[in-house]
Parts: sequence; structure tokens; C-alpha cells
Amino acid sequence: HQPWPGLIEAYRHRLPVCDTWEPGWAPVTLREGATPLLPATALSELTGCDVHLKVEGLNPTGSFKDRGMTMAVTEAKATGKKGVLCASTGNTSASAAAYAAIAGIECAVLVPAGKIAMGKLAQAVMYGATIIEVDGNFDDCLELARKTTATFDTIALVNSVNPVRIEGQKTAAFEIVDALGKAPDVHALPVGNAGNITAYWRGYSEYFADGISGSRPRMLGVQAAGAAPLVNGAPVKDPETIATAIRIGSPASWNQAVAAKDESNGQFRAATDEKLLEAYRLIAKTEGVFVEPASAASVAGLLAATADGWIEKGSTVVCTVTGNGLKDPDTALSSLPEIARVGIDPVAVASAMGLTE
Ligand code: F0G
Repeated sequence: HQPWPGLIEAYRHRLPVCDTWEPGWAPVTLREGATPLLPATALSELTGCDVHLKVEGLNPTGSFKDRGMTMAVTEAKATGKKGVLCASTGNTSASAAAYAAIAGIECAVLVPAGKIAMGKLAQAVMYGATIIEVDGNFDDCLELARKTTATFDTIALVNSVNPVRIEGQKTAAFEIVDALGKAPDVHALPVGNAGNITAYWRGYSEYFADGISGSRPRMLGVQAAGAAPLVNGAPVKDPETIATAIRIGSPASWNQAVAAKDESNGQFRAATDEKLLEAYRLIAKTEGVFVEPASAASVAGLLAATADGWIEKGSTVVCTVTGNGLKDPDTALSSLPEIARVGIDPVAVASAMGLTE
């Protein structure tokens, strides 16, 4: 039994690891990938579908970004870059910071001031990144990151506009087909900057083209209602949502996301913050999986699309839950129930549990 080597070694033949990289380059890896595909019993019962959760919050820095970042930082290191830079709503910054730390190169992260979850900021601090707050939203941060890296070529841009990020992230689709023995009928996931939907579609398409799966899923891309440019068909100038990870008004991979939707006969959908939070609580309470609010968009989409018949009963559905709930304790605790306080008194404990009989 070989230990899991991380994505680049596991899927090397399907990734653009490159002859032009420095001789002797090695993967920069935290052994990301190989995340569980969890059968979602309660959600299956609720929807009449065969629902699975792809639990990406179990990656090394707690989100799917690690799949792309192992590629991006490996490339940066192997091509002699001195540092990496990203714009981020939080998860990309945590991931870039961790991989840069083990690569031994500089990392700076551009984040929208006051609009990233506390756990993600804590990660970037601990991994030793230079944190730069920008007076603006994610879209402004990305523009600044693009301009900076266009001007200074010792700094690599590690946002998903970097093509190797998408290549790394497509491996999640491979893992799903490998685990199910087929492609699902529908794949639901949150959409912000639209890199991940692009990546999944590429992964499913590659396995399909090679005959490893006999079909491809319909892609269901779910955005927050206050930040739903792809649903509206136009950029959103001042995106707003509790799901700060996907608070993005002008997705960089717009065209690729539309292609994924169209080619798969899929759909973009918006979920209100209220529906996102409902799904967020439901996943934790019924499936035992604590995700961050943005991640619940996939399940909010599943619930809406099964309710209105876009997803038929009996379908096999995979929902990617993209990030770990521990990253955003503030949102979790904002609906804190009343907490019992007792002395050293067993009866009081049992009574607080409602189990005194
Ligand atoms: N879910 C989470 C938890 C995210 O952090 C993101 C994106 C998405 C979904 C959307 O993925 O952008 O590929 O469509 N977070 C980026 C960041 C923007 O900076 O961490 P996408």
C-alpha cells in the first residue's frame, strides 16, 4: 500500500507538468486531493436522488484551492519565480500562503478590506504571507494582482486565471468518476470567479473523451443572489452576500463557465443568503459536514432544482462542498442558541439534554 503522493504525482500523466521547467523540479505538495465522496443519506432521502458530497474542506488548507495551488506554486518554483501573488476572498490566499511557505518563496495576498472570514486571515498570517488589504472588492483585487504581475515578472500570479490552477482543480472530477464508477447525472457547485466550474467540466470532459466515463453530468452552477452575474447575464458592480468567498461581481472565467453550462445542458441558479444559510445548517445537522456558507450553495441549488423538477428523482447528484466551516466561525456563531450553564450536577446535564426519563 503506497501512501497518497498528492495530486501531481497521482495524475501526472493528465497534468501539464512541463519539460521547460528547471531540471530537477519537484512537486510542491501538501498531499492535497483524495478527498472523501460522502454518500449524503439525509439529502438523498429529502430529494429522492442519490446525493453525494465531495468534501473539499478536507484538503490541507481546508478548501479545493489546494488542488490548483500545488500546480501553480510548483510551476512558480520550477520556473524560478521569487514570489507568488493572488487576489482572494480568503481561501486562495490561505492556500497560496501555505504552498509558498513550503516552497520557500515569498507570498503576498490582496484581500478586500474587512470582507474575508476570520479563519482564512488567520491561516494566511500563520503561513507567513504578506497580507495586503485593498479598498475595494475581489474584482478590484484581481485587477491589481494582474497589473502587478504583468509589471514584475519575478512574481507569479496564482489566481485561477493562471491555466495550471484549472488543470490541478480538474482532478476532483477524476476522483468522483473513479469513486462512483461513472459520471453523476448532475454536478452542483458554488460559482464565484468561475474557475472551479471550468475545471470540473474539463475533468469530466477528459475522462469522457478517453472513454473512462460514458457520459458527462449537467453542471449546476450556483451563485449568491447578491453576487450572481452569471445568472443575471451581466457583471454586478457591488456584489454583496454573507457568503464572502463568492462575493464576486465579474468572474474571470466567465466564458468558460458559460461554455460548461451550455455544453452540459446545465444551469446557473441564484440562492438568497437565507437559502444559503438554511442549506449551511442542514448539511451540518443532517450530514455531519460543517462547511463554510459559500459551500452550501451547491446544496441550496440541489434543493431548489429538485423542488422545481430540473433534477429528476432517481438522479445521481454530486454536490461539491468547497470549504471547511471552521474558516468562518463568526457566521456559525451568529445564530448561537441559548447555552445552558450548570453546576457539577448530572441531573441538570440530563435535563439540558431533554433526556431525564
Ligand atoms: N467556494 C469557496 C469556499 C471559495 O472560496 C470559492 C472561491 C468558491 C466556492 C468559488 O470558486 O471562484 O472557482 O468559482 N474563492 C476564491 C478565493 C475566489 O479567493 O478564495 P470559483
